Amino acid sequence: MKKNILSGMRPSGKLHLGNYWGALHRWLELQNGGDQCFFMVADLHALTTGYEDTGSIKSNIEEMVLDWLAAGLDPEKSVIFQQSRVPEHAELALLLSMITPLGWLERIPTYKEQLRELSGREIATHGFLGYPVLQAADILLYKAYGVPVGEDQLSHLELCQEIARRFNHIYGPVFQEPKALLGQTPKVPGLDGRKMSKSYGNAVELTETSEGLWQKISRMYTDPQKIRANDPGHPEGCVVYALHKIYNSQSAVRETECREGRIGCVACKKHLLSLMEPALKPLHEKRAELAKKPNLVRDVLEAGNEKAHQAARTTLDEARRAMNLDPI
Ligand code: TRP
Ligand code: SF4
Repeated sequence: MKKNILSGMRPSGKLHLGNYWGALHRWLELQNGGDQCFFMVADLHALTTGYEDTGSIKSNIEEMVLDWLAAGLDPEKSVIFQQSRVPEHAELALLLSMITPLGWLERIPTYKEQLRELSGREIATHGFLGYPVLQAADILLYKAYGVPVGEDQLSHLELCQEIARRFNHIYGPVFQEPKALLGQTPKVPGLDGRKMSKSYGNAVELTETSEGLWQKISRMYTDPQKIRANDPGHPEGCVVYALHKIYNSQSAVRETECREGRIGCVACKKHLLSLMEPALKPLHEKRAELAKKPNLVRDVLEAGNEKAHQAARTTLDEARRAMNLDPI
C-alpha cells in the first residue's frame, strides 16, 4: 500500500527561486517516487498573520498553484488542494487544541521570533499561537508518515509528534507520528545577498522571462573588492557564484577562475544567464500556456479538495469515535 506524504505552502503569489529550491523541487521528486502526495495551499495559515487584508488571497492562490503546475506538480499523481475548503482541518485543529498545553506552544522558537519580527502588527492572536496545532491537524488527518519541510519547520513537526502521542495516549491509537523528510536544499540568496524574500524585493521569480532574468542577474551582489576582470575575487558571499553552484555543473572551475582573477564579473554573469535561461524558459512557457486555460486552477483545486476531504473524513471520524464524539 502507498504511504502518504503531506506538505503545504502559504499562498504568497508567484514563487521565487528560494521557494523552488527550498520546497517545490523536493515535492516534485517525492511526487515521482512511490508515495501518495498531498500538496496543500495553506490559506488558513496565511490568515494567522494576514487576517486584516484578505483582498489578494484568491489571486495569490491562483498564482501559486499556476507555478506549481508549471513546475510539474501533476493533479493526476498528487492531491493538490486548498486547506480552508476541507473543513476537517479546522475541526481537527479544534479537537487537538483541547489537549495541547499552552506551554508547548509558547516555547516554539518561531512563535517568539515572529512576534518580534512582526511587532508592528497585532498578531498576538489565538489563531497565531495555534498555528502549529493547525499544522499538526493538516499532517495527522492524512496519517502522513513523512513531511518534507525545511529546518525552520522542525519545531512544528516535533510538536505534531507530541500531540499525536498525547492523543493516542489519552484516547487510544488513532494517529501516526510523522517524520520530517529533510532533503539537501541549496542555499539561494536574494539579489542583495540576504535571504531571498518577496518582502525584501530581492527575489528572482521562478517564471522570470529572459529579459527579466538578465535585469536581475546584472543587479546581483558580487565581491566588491573585485573591480577589474583580472583582480582575484572571493566567490564566497557572491550571489552569482551561489547560483553557479546550482545551475553550473562545473562550478568548481568557476571558483578557481574567480580566485585566480581569470574571469571578470560581467563575463561570469553572462555565463550564468546562459545557464539559467534554458532552465527557466520551459517554466515560463508552460505557465503562459496554463494561464490561458480559464478556471484551470479552480478545477484542479475542486477535484483535489474532494479527494482530500474523503481521506480526511475517515481519519476525523476515527478521532471522534475515540473521543466518544460519534453519535450517542
Ligand atoms: N508552516 C508551513 C510553512 O510556513 C506551511 C504548512 C502549513 C505546512 N501546514 C503544513 C508544511 C503541513 C508542512 C505540513 O512553510
Ligand atoms: Fe562572483 Fe563571478 Fe565575480 Fe567571482 S567572477 S566575484 S564568482 S561574479
